[in-house]
Amino acid sequence: MSVRILSTSPLMGPALAELGARFPELAIAPYRSPEWEAALPGAEALVVIVSEPITEADLDRAPRLKALATCSVGVNHLPLKACEARGIAVVNTPGVLTDATADLALTLLLALTRRVAEGEALVRTGQWSGWAPDQLLGPGLPGKECGILGSGPIGQAFARRIQALGMVPLFWDREGTGGEVAFGTGRAPRLTLEALLPRSAFLSLHCPLTEQTRGLLDRAALERLPAGAVLINTARGGILDEGAAMDLLESGHLGGAGMDVYEGEPRLDPRWLRVPRTVLLPHLGSATVETREAMAGLVRDGIARALGA
Ligand code: DGY
Repeated sequence: MSVRILSTSPLMGPALAELGARFPELAIAPYRSPEWEAALPGAEALVVIVSEPITEADLDRAPRLKALATCSVGVNHLPLKACEARGIAVVNTPGVLTDATADLALTLLLALTRRVAEGEALVRTGQWSGWAPDQLLGPGLPGKECGILGSGPIGQAFARRIQALGMVPLFWDREGTGGEVAFGTGRAPRLTLEALLPRSAFLSLHCPLTEQTRGLLDRAALERLPAGAVLINTARGGILDEGAAMDLLESGHLGGAGMDVYEGEPRLDPRWLRVPRTVLLPHLGSATVETREAMAGLVRDGIARALGA
């Protein structure tokens, strides 16, 4: 049987099986396995996940391809221009992971500032000797300004959450400067990066990785943050100069880093395991059952549309 739809994973929930019921020529084979490579030339649709880049050379080998789907909102691992030039539909999963990702960014912010990992380690290792007035203190949040890089749905959802805690959101986005960003019932100023960074006691990344945002938070940008600033990255590793961030954590200029994504993940610069005041997660932004099922549903529907069913 020739394979029409080639997926690297069964995804979550029933969506892919439902697609298979409509298109029996659906195969699941691990990314770049011999089976995957063998089926690629005949495939009309590919399904990958966020850690599985597809190149223009792959498209050259797949002349029948009509749809390239990723079970992610991010599309930085796909050859977008080449897909457009060849009329290949790109399917991704916007909208459905907004709340889950904003929740995780808030989780990192709270875990860092309330020193959750250190407190838990104290209890688990039997080293807690009792309540003390100065034990594991962190900065309070109300009244503090928080820079948000990216004013799309996830940035806005994060703004709603931190505003509910009494924090003051400030936005930077790729549109430029000026005006305000509306988020639900709230509004916050849209600033240049130069204006936003020195005010950001907290900074959370919510923009996609593009040519414009790659390396956006380089050493010079991080040094413009106020001393003790706390950084949260649930967006993409390549936006942040991780080496500079680790240097500044070691020097104390950065007060903490909550990381869910890394350049070159799942490999991690081993220094991350040694620098102080970090919470390190394995790319869990969209990791709720409902979200992952909804993402799979969007992949199913996008492919069915592209294949004309
Ligand atoms: C996305 O969807 O782009 C996330 O990073 C993976 O859930």
